[in-house]
Amino acid sequence: MPARAPEPPSGTPSAGIAARKADHLDLCESGDVGFRSTSTLLEGVTLLHQSLPELCTDEVSTAAELLGRQLRAPVIIAAMTGGHERAAGINRSLAMLAQEHGLGFGLGSQRAMQRDPGMDWTYRVREWAPDILLLGNIGVVQARETRTKELEALVRDVGADALCVHLNPAMELIQSDGDRDFRGCVQTLERLCNELPFPIVAKETGNGLSPQTIEKLLGAGVRCVDTSGAGGTSWVGVETLRADERRRSMGDRLWDWGIPTAASVHYATRASLTTIATGGLRSGLDVARAISLGAHAGGIARPLLQTLSRSGEDGVRTYLDDLVHELRSVMLLTGSRTIEALRHAPRVISSELERWLSV
Ligand SMILES: Cc1cc2nc3c(=O)[nH]c(=O)nc-3n(C[C@H](O)[C@H](O)[C@H](O)COP(=O)(O)O)c2cc1C
Repeated sequence: MPARAPEPPSGTPSAGIAARKADHLDLCESGDVGFRSTSTLLEGVTLLHQSLPELCTDEVSTAAELLGRQLRAPVIIAAMTGGHERAAGINRSLAMLAQEHGLGFGLGSQRAMQRDPGMDWTYRVREWAPDILLLGNIGVVQARETRTKELEALVRDVGADALCVHLNPAMELIQSDGDRDFRGCVQTLERLCNELPFPIVAKETGNGLSPQTIEKLLGAGVRCVDTSGAGGTSWVGVETLRADERRRSMGDRLWDWGIPTAASVHYATRASLTTIATGGLRSGLDVARAISLGAHAGGIARPLLQTLSRSGEDGVRTYLDDLVHELRSVMLLTGSRTIEALRHAPRVISSELERWLSV
């Protein structure tokens, strides 16, 4: 298990960010920060059972291609951390496990590294994960204030394959010192799509992408999204637990704000976007359900952090083995030999999810 280590001294440029990130880790490891009543609605997807699949488990292939990299299973360890010593251990452990399992891995926001280049080592994982799909990460508001060349360097410095640009207005509004001005973000995405020599992934952080947002993303030239929908970790919830009295009551009311992951995945895939389904996926069955809605991969964040903290690398290894085994089993039971076949597997949609899909 990564050891807790001292944070950067309070005078360093990234000290404030490091303290906030450490709070986030603590709250996500042990706090009650799940959505309270909004679900992912992935339970509203029932895959049709096939009693005569005419398949052997060994020939069921979970292999997938995403953003130019081969994955042994369509699973991404979603963006979580970076920018302080504790984060470095978490990134190293999870990236190493992604390498071992042939999965993708997302770095947490590289804002701390941008502020203080001395923090770059906390994001460097290529030594332990030379072959994985590695995703860099920055907030769209920070990207708006940053020259393209500087963003390119952030990605190149860590050897990432693509840059996730996170869109997180809901959590920012709860943070007492969060961003308040979200203008110019579409133009920023357009600039990045035009000028960066690698793919951009527009990523939510737990509130989902609406059809209107997807329309704007398409107009900006974005071709890949991470839906990060509602139903898993509530970032409004995380910030509410850190907020002062005044913002806490608004945070409590907006705790369940957002678009369920299943609906958001549908909005993205019907627009032909390459889609990573994140937000409340907790099992191989959830990944299979998201793929049957057209997603190209599923992403998981908080459960992996919690498992690493409680049970170390061996615990995460078991979690990932079981998840991929379950995905393979569901593929067999739906008669899907490949991930592409699973994307077209027959399914029944609940009336609640159907209402969302018709928006
Ligand atoms: C501790 C922690 C830190 C996170 N930090 C980031 C981040 O820096 N950038 C980002 O795009 N998403 C971040 N996220 C959001 C996740 O990538 C994911 O979109 C969200 O938590 C929903 O997935 P989950 O329900 O599996 O946790 C973070 C999540 C966790 C748990």
